[in-house]
Amino acid sequence: MKRFVAASLVMGLMLGATAVAGSADAATIKIKIAGMKADKEPETIGMKIFGKKLEELSKGEFEVKVYPNSMLGKEDKYIADTRKGTIQMCATGTQVSAFHNAMAMLETPMLYDDYDHAERAINGGVFDLINDGFTEKSGLRTLNAFPLGFRHFYTKNPVTSIDDVKKLKMRVPNITLYTTFAKECGINGQAMPFAEVHSAVESGAIDGGDSPFSDITSKKIYELCPNITTTGHILVLHCLFINEKFYQSLTKEQQAMVNEAAQYAAAEVWKLAKQVDEEAIKEIKENKGIVSAPTDAMKQHMQEAAKRTWQLFLDPKSEKTYVPNAQAIFDKAASFKK
Ligand code: G3P
Repeated sequence: MKRFVAASLVMGLMLGATAVAGSADAATIKIKIAGMKADKEPETIGMKIFGKKLEELSKGEFEVKVYPNSMLGKEDKYIADTRKGTIQMCATGTQVSAFHNAMAMLETPMLYDDYDHAERAINGGVFDLINDGFTEKSGLRTLNAFPLGFRHFYTKNPVTSIDDVKKLKMRVPNITLYTTFAKECGINGQAMPFAEVHSAVESGAIDGGDSPFSDITSKKIYELCPNITTTGHILVLHCLFINEKFYQSLTKEQQAMVNEAAQYAAAEVWKLAKQVDEEAIKEIKENKGIVSAPTDAMKQHMQEAAKRTWQLFLDPKSEKTYVPNAQAIFDKAASFKK
């Protein structure tokens, strides 16, 4: 009898332990975040900082798993999966302008003078104006906005004059904003995915393209296109998005932790932006790449092209790109210039 009681006690303790562990696990809220960039790039850094911060703030109530480098599929797929709720979160940028035109304005050409201007403007109201109405149309909530870097030209041959610019065949993302801006610059823009840049340069289909420094180094593009011209014509901004139904299923306290972690992650990436560029420039130069500033005439040429491109947002007849509050967004951004 004594042996039976002891055995029952041990069994009871084991079952109890299992039940506690089981209920603790059931209480853990799991978040999967998908992104497209490589491990050391700002997008992935931002996702990881968010995950770590949320786990810390919630003392393990949330468990966050980060899937960079298109591990959960290409951008279109993981955006669709986040909208469906198959995964809870993702990082992306102007791709979501398919649901809300204004999101393309995240990457308005020639809008910001430098990172400091952009950070003041984005956090000072520009982002709120761009994001207004997005959740209702997409089923996604935007938690923050952080920089991947300013886009610069990378080319096989040096680009030193407007005539050189006008001769270029350049890869551009397949986004109306980008194809229009290239056209306005006089560039022969070839829309294709970033992943096709290497083969397109090798086959001579393009002379180069434009990307933030973090992309130029992560794919070692400088090995094929060693001339980097620091035009800085578009600041690429990405955001963390969360499925709105999932977000609404959280308690107010949990939502507050998610928001705090996202704000913290964005602030950290803004802090890192200049350092990311400096490290990339060092790597490019160490590998015989040449980093040069554009001439004043070239800059002015691109500024004028950008202003003409802005019409996409201002013109009510451009149905797929028109943004009713575009002028307010331009004015707000300008108000943060030094
Ligand atoms: O956010 C969209 C845009 O920045 C895409 O650029 O060069 O990564 O295709 P890319």
